[in-house]
Amino acid sequence: MRILQVSSELFPLLKTGGLADVAGALPAALGAQACDVRPLLPGFPAVVAGLHAAQTIGNFTTPWGERIEVVLGHLPGLGAAGQALKAYVLLAPGLYDRPGNPYHDAQHHPYTDNHRRFAALGWGAAHLAYGLDSAWSPQLVHCHDWHAGLAPACMALWDSPHRVPSLFTIHNLAYQGCFDAGCFPELGLPASAFSVGGLEFYGQVSFMKAGLVYANHISTVSPTYAREIQTAEQGFGLDGLLRSRAAQLSGILNGVDGSVWDPKHDALLPHPFDMRKLTGKALNKAHLQAETDLEALPDAPLFTLVGRLTEQKGLPLVLGGIEEIVGGGGQLLVLGSGDAALEHALAGQAHAYPGRVAVRLDYDEALAHRIFGGSDVTLVPSRFEPCGLTQLYGMKYGSLPLVRRVGGLADTVTDTDLETLDDSSATGFVFDAFDSTPYRSALRRAFALYRRRADWNRVRHNGMRIASSWQDSARQYRDLYASLISTP
Ligand code: ADP
Ligand code: GLC
Repeated sequence: MRILQVSSELFPLLKTGGLADVAGALPAALGAQACDVRPLLPGFPAVVAGLHAAQTIGNFTTPWGERIEVVLGHLPGLGAAGQALKAYVLLAPGLYDRPGNPYHDAQHHPYTDNHRRFAALGWGAAHLAYGLDSAWSPQLVHCHDWHAGLAPACMALWDSPHRVPSLFTIHNLAYQGCFDAGCFPELGLPASAFSVGGLEFYGQVSFMKAGLVYANHISTVSPTYAREIQTAEQGFGLDGLLRSRAAQLSGILNGVDGSVWDPKHDALLPHPFDMRKLTGKALNKAHLQAETDLEALPDAPLFTLVGRLTEQKGLPLVLGGIEEIVGGGGQLLVLGSGDAALEHALAGQAHAYPGRVAVRLDYDEALAHRIFGGSDVTLVPSRFEPCGLTQLYGMKYGSLPLVRRVGGLADTVTDTDLETLDDSSATGFVFDAFDSTPYRSALRRAFALYRRRADWNRVRHNGMRIASSWQDSARQYRDLYASLISTP
């Protein structure tokens, strides 16, 4: 099957979060399922720099008269078995050639022309779907998140002698790509699309809604999140639409890319280790404590959090639980960047508890690996979480996840109790309400298990044993693609 994968990020070229990990892992995982996947990406500087042997295959002109060149090149080491992956990139320096974050400027202001920058991604996908590359045309277009939301709309609404099905995957409903209605004429869509039944959303244009309305099928990154987004509480105003499309909405869990995340072969770890020989894990912890100015306490449970510092990730709970961690003799290390108020509050706590709390306000891929490698508990107490990857990386690296029972966290972590210890399904600590009392109680349970070392080791072993590879999920995507392609 020939699949065009449309996303704005792809690891290792460009990453701001889990979307990049997924877009980077899927082509090879699907390659192993006999799918020929080609990514389409905007020509951000890091993407253009990573693309080899690029050749122009066509171009198109935007409604505001900008010419966009579509090139096809190779991304080395990203295909099946580490081969080069063929990828399409949109060359439009006026839209994409800007340093830093792909979505906003250095002052964290979203670029004012984001509707143009990501409309172009949608058009690029639609042009490729309808024959821009005479040597390869996709049988299905798989669009990821709002950045690619215009693709299903163009594919459904443009005139074409044949139709190519589209799949739209929601990675996070909280980010919707909403723009002023005045930008609609620049989107190249018929006027009728600016309506309640189209991409109009409370008077604005919503790229997320465009994906949800016009895609042949909608998926999201866990079965629980697929249900949650159909409720008012988690639907961000789109729950009614999602309920109306429930028959075409499903959840497929993310996996772990073993070529990037494997403690046995991880070149970014000072001391690689595996399930059978965990001495490296203890050495990584000592290394991590030293490099982050935490006291060298081998027996203090080290709680860590790697993530975007946003409301979503449950930072208020983490801040409120610091006394519990420090008072219990543990340590806390946070790596993240984001909300200025959260950054400030975390830095204040590191100052208040030197040697016990450390905070790195940064984005650092290599440090993230060293953290999972040395950590005892991976905190993911999210308010909502479509899937979550850090709990999976924690498990794989022998760090027990402590998570809220929500979204993909509920689908991937099993709470530790006598029953789950006994049947070897326990993998971490799960609490329910988004409230400090159950969160702190989960922290105390982590301390209690840490003191029972044999049981701790069993739970750690359970987590490391669960492969969470992409194989099962890639099969589910393959089956979904096949059913959409065969449906007239
Ligand atoms: P989300 O996509 O909501 O941010 P995920 O858990 O799905 O959450 O994925 C986050 C990804 O980004 C993981 O690969 C995580 O290790 C990485 N990450 C997040 N923040 C940082 C950071 N400050 N430094 C390095 N990696 C980070
Ligand atoms: C989003 C979600 C996260 C998910 C990731 C990859 O950013 O917030 O839960 O794991 O996308 O699908």
